[in-house]
Amino acid sequence: KTKLVIAIDGFSSCGKSTMAKDIAKRMEYIYVDTGAMYRAVTLYAIRHQMILEDEVSKEALVQDLDKIVITFQYDENSKSNETYLNGENVENEIRQLEVSNSVSLIAAIAEVRHHLVRLQQVFGNDSGVVMDGRDIGTVVFPNADLKIFMTADPMIRAKRRFDELTEKGEMVSLEAILANVEKRDHIDQTRDESPLVKADDAIVLDNSHLTPKEQTALVMQWIEDKI
Ligand code: C5P
Repeated sequence: KTKLVIAIDGFSSCGKSTMAKDIAKRMEYIYVDTGAMYRAVTLYAIRHQMILEDEVSKEALVQDLDKIVITFQYDENSKSNETYLNGENVENEIRQLEVSNSVSLIAAIAEVRHHLVRLQQVFGNDSGVVMDGRDIGTVVFPNADLKIFMTADPMIRAKRRFDELTEKGEMVSLEAILANVEKRDHIDQTRDESPLVKADDAIVLDNSHLTPKEQTALVMQWIEDKI
C-alpha cells in the first residue's frame, strides 16, 4: 500500500492542524480539518440564536443539519483549504473565541457527530488523506494506516493559541485562553458520545518540548515505516 489514511487526534491547540497540513503537503495527500466542521456547525447555531448561556436548542439544530453545507476550498493566499458554510467563507470567524467557547457543546450532540462523521468518511474515501480531530482513529477511520495521538502541556498550548490570536489582532487574555483549553479538554474527554480517547494502536506524540522540525522528522519516519 502506498497511499495511507493518516488519523491525527488529540487535545485542543496541540498543533494538530499545522502538523496535519504540513504532512499532507509533503505527501501530496488531501487534508481534512474536522474541527473546522464542528466549528462551522457551531457558527450556524450561534447565528440562528440556538445557543443561550451554555444551553443548545438541540432539536432546532438537529432539524437544520441537512441545511448546513460545509465545504473546503483551496485558497491561493493562505495556501491552504478554507472552510465554507453554505457557500460563505467562514475561515476566520470559526476561529474566534465565541465559537471556541461553544464548540464542545455542539460536538457533544450525537446527531451532529453522526452527520459529520458520515461526511468525513466520504472525504476519506480515496486513500491518501490526513484527517485531524478527536475521534478519527477511534470512530471515523478505525482502520487508519497510521494513528497519532497528540498532546502537550495545557499552559504551553494556551500560550501558542494566545500568540496566534494576538498576532491576528484579537484582544484576548492568556488566562481566558487557558480556561478555554482546560474546559474543552474536560468536555471532550468526558462526553458520552465518542469522548476523546487514544486509540489502542495510536502512537503518542507529546510535542511540549519538540520544535516543529523535530516533530516533522519523527512523523515522516513513522510514515516511511508504513509505506
Ligand atoms: O480541532 P479544533 O480545536 O478546531 O476542534 C474544535 C472542537 O471541535 C473541539 O474542541 C472538539 O470539541 C470538537 N471536535 C470533535 N471531534 C472532532 C474534531 C473536533 O469533537 N473530530
